[in-house]
Order: sequence, then C-alpha cells, then structure tokens
Amino acid sequence: MKVFIQTLGCAMNERDSEHMLAELESKEGYELTADSSEADLILINTCSVREKPERRLFSEIGQYAQAKKQGAKIGVCGCTASHMGGEILRKSPHVDFVLGARNISKITQIIHKPKAVEVDLDYDDSLYAFEGVRSSGVKALLNISIGCDKSCAYCIVPHTRGKEISIPLDLILAEARKLAQNGIKELLLLGQNVNNYGVRFSTEHAPIDFTGLLRELERVEGIRRIRFTSPHPLHMDDEFLHEFARNTKVCKSIHIPLQSGSSKILKSMRRGYSKEWFLNRVEKLKSLVPDVGISTDIIVGFCGESDEDFAHTLDVLEQVRFDTLYSFIYSPRPHTRAFDFDKSLSVPKDIAQKRLSQLQERHREILREKAQADIGKEYEVLVENVFSDERGCFSEGRSDNNRLIHIDGRKLDLGEFARVRVMRNEGGSLFGEVVG
Ligand code: SAH
Ligand code: SF4
Ligand code: F3S
Repeated sequence: MKVFIQTLGCAMNERDSEHMLAELESKEGYELTADSSEADLILINTCSVREKPERRLFSEIGQYAQAKKQGAKIGVCGCTASHMGGEILRKSPHVDFVLGARNISKITQIIHKPKAVEVDLDYDDSLYAFEGVRSSGVKALLNISIGCDKSCAYCIVPHTRGKEISIPLDLILAEARKLAQNGIKELLLLGQNVNNYGVRFSTEHAPIDFTGLLRELERVEGIRRIRFTSPHPLHMDDEFLHEFARNTKVCKSIHIPLQSGSSKILKSMRRGYSKEWFLNRVEKLKSLVPDVGISTDIIVGFCGESDEDFAHTLDVLEQVRFDTLYSFIYSPRPHTRAFDFDKSLSVPKDIAQKRLSQLQERHREILREKAQADIGKEYEVLVENVFSDERGCFSEGRSDNNRLIHIDGRKLDLGEFARVRVMRNEGGSLFGEVVG
C-alpha cells in the first residue's frame, strides 16, 4: 500500500505530514510514494492562511481524482479541513474523508471510515506519542505546543488549530533524546507562539516557561543546535532575550514577526505591541548578540493602512535590516475579526501590490549589501546537503545565524560541522571554503 502526501503551508503542517506518515507506516503498512497515480491513499495537507491556495483546493482534488489508481482514497487534512469540515465532502464527491489540523492522530482510524469528518477543535492530542519518521537525517522538527490563544484580527489559525496547549516537558525531552540517538544534530521547536510555552497543559505539570524549556533542552547530549518558530514579539521580555543570548545551543538567528511597522495598524491587528516595543526588543537583542540573524513576516495592505502607516513599515525595515523577509498582501479570511471590518477600510489591490513590490525591492537591496559585508567572515556551518557531479563535490549548510553557504572544493559529510570562510557573493548567494 502506498501513500502520497501533498503538504502546503507552514512547518507545523510539515510536521503533521511526518506524523501521519509515521502512523500509516507503522500501523497500517503504508510506504510513501512521490507519484500520486500509483498511490492507494492521497492526502492533501492544506493551509488556509491566505485565500488563494484554498481556492485552488477543489481543482487540485479534481486533478488527483482524474489520475488516481482505481479505488484509491483521497483525504483532505489540515487547516482548510478544520474550518470547512463537511462542506468539503458536499463540494467534492471525490473526497473520502476530512481530517482537521487538530485531529491528525486519528489518521489510522479515519482511513477506514467512508465519508468521515473529524474536525473537533477541542480535541487534544498534546499527550499523543506519535511514531517517529523524519525527512532529514540532520535536522528535525519537534512540536512543543498545539493551537494558538491569540486573536490577531487577520488570522484564521486559532480557528483551525484551536486553543493553545503545551506539550509536557518529559515528552519533549524524551523525543529530543531519541532524535539525538538517531544522529539528529539540530532541532526546530514548533508552536504558533513558542515563547508562551507553559501557559496551559492538559494534565498536572510543574510550572515552566520557554526559557526553562530551552535550559532543559540544552542539556540533551548530541543535540548541537536548537532553533524555534514562531516566537511572539510581545513575549520577548529581557529574561527571554538573555537566555537566547546565553544558551550555548540556541542558534543566533530568530524569527520576529513584525506584521506592520505602524503602531496604529498593529493595534487594529490586535498584536499587543507597538512599533517602539518591536524596535526596542531588536535593539536589545542586537546589543546582546551583535551578529544575530533576524527574519520576519510582514503583511501589507491591511484594512486602513495609509501611505504614512506603510512608511512606518519601511522605516522598521531600514532600522532592523532583516536577513529574511516573508511578505504578503493582506487576504481577508472568514472567522476573523478583520473579515467584518468596514469595507471602506479596504486597501485597493493595486496600491497593496505597489507597496509589496517596494518593500521587497528595498529588502533585496539590503540583502545584497549584507551579502557583500559577509565576505571574509568565518562561520561554523552544519552540512545539510551534499552534491556531486562531473565538476566535483559541493555541499551546503547553514551558519549559526542562518546564512545559507555553498561550500566548494572539499568533500564533507552530511551532519558534519565545518569552519567556513565566505569567499564570494553571487547575486546574494554566499560561497565559501573550509578553513583549517
Ligand atoms: N504564529 C505565527 C504566524 C502563523 S501564520 C506568528 O504569529 O508569527 C504565518 C504568517 O502568515 C503570519 O505571520 C502573517 O504574516 C501571515 N498571515 C496570516 N494571516 C494572513 C492574512 N489573512 N493575510 C495575509 N497574510 C497573513
Ligand atoms: Fe495567527 Fe496571531 Fe496566532 Fe500567529 S499569534 S497564529 S498570527 S493568531
Ligand atoms: Fe500553518 Fe497554514 Fe495552518 S500557515 S497553521 S498550515 S493555516
């Protein structure tokens, strides 16, 4: 029996797909295929954070249905499954079951129930011990919480993943140790709001917060690097920033989702912080970790965003000089507060598009300047990919502060740490050589 899985959306969905595969392999004897036409089971793990991919869902289902093996089942899983539920079955006769993002642990049951819908938002699988499959031998995703307690006005995620529940410390540590024994060097801790860790558990649990969790994970032998996503700027207190700087295993790169540089827009987004707070946190972080890598998410064209508001976003870009920028045009989503905002606040598409282009263009310039300034610097790189062709052997990996560096001239092994000097910058891509 073969299963094909298409995964859309964020790292959380990626992890959910790994979990579903692990359950199907160990309990139902499935193996993964990259070809949907030879699969007995086709899973589409959906994302609903913006409208466009969601709109494409039904034409995609149609395409899979047309090319599938006779008798093969199609399941729609993930965030769109959560909020559309049974409507998916009504809209598409090809779909055999619908499994919400909060119900992933039921995968081995639902495949046997024709036309079943499992989308209970209160379902709690924070204590469920999934079987362990990893797609990479060097890095692993590790969930530390499920759901999200915030209510950002634009965001559908709380409606697709339910309320926030932290995964108990002993389960996280057991998983981390198992991963280390299997040769994993780097962990990526996952949650919608990781630095709110410890806010609520499903069972009795000793008090702990995110800094406490980082301290515990630092002691796991064999794990050399720890990253996490996403932290919330509101919860970046001094204690958190000091732990980030001190912890010997926490990589010195961090995602700090800005969303907007305008305090007025941040307020209507219900983000809970201001432009000043964001800049203050970045300044403090840079004073503690001068070479820190910072990535962010920005939404342009949110309801009521004026030229002046957008100028504040550009100003933050200028002051912080992010290393990675994920930027989006605001997309109205059902079940969110902003969906019901007065239509007169909507920003016309062409203006939003212009702002997005302007933001991205300035970011690209900053990246070119930064890449140039990287030449001559030395970084410790964890080798994540190794290629060889007739021209020789190449590898690539990431520095502690998340620079992707291509390494030529020396054969390296997957999972090896190498000291690399950056030699050149080709259109923003860094090339380096092993030193010593
Ligand atoms: N928990 C994470 C975000 C998860 S959603 C956090 O708070 O950072 C990932 C990103 O998608 C968000 O950071 C936001 O920038 C973007 N996003 C969410 N809803 C959106 C919408 N309605 N339109 C456009 N972008 C959106
Ligand atoms: Fe969405 Fe806000 Fe929760 Fe992030 S913190 S998932 S943006 S509601
Ligand atoms: Fe992730 Fe998309 Fe759901 S971003 S949480 S898969 S809506």
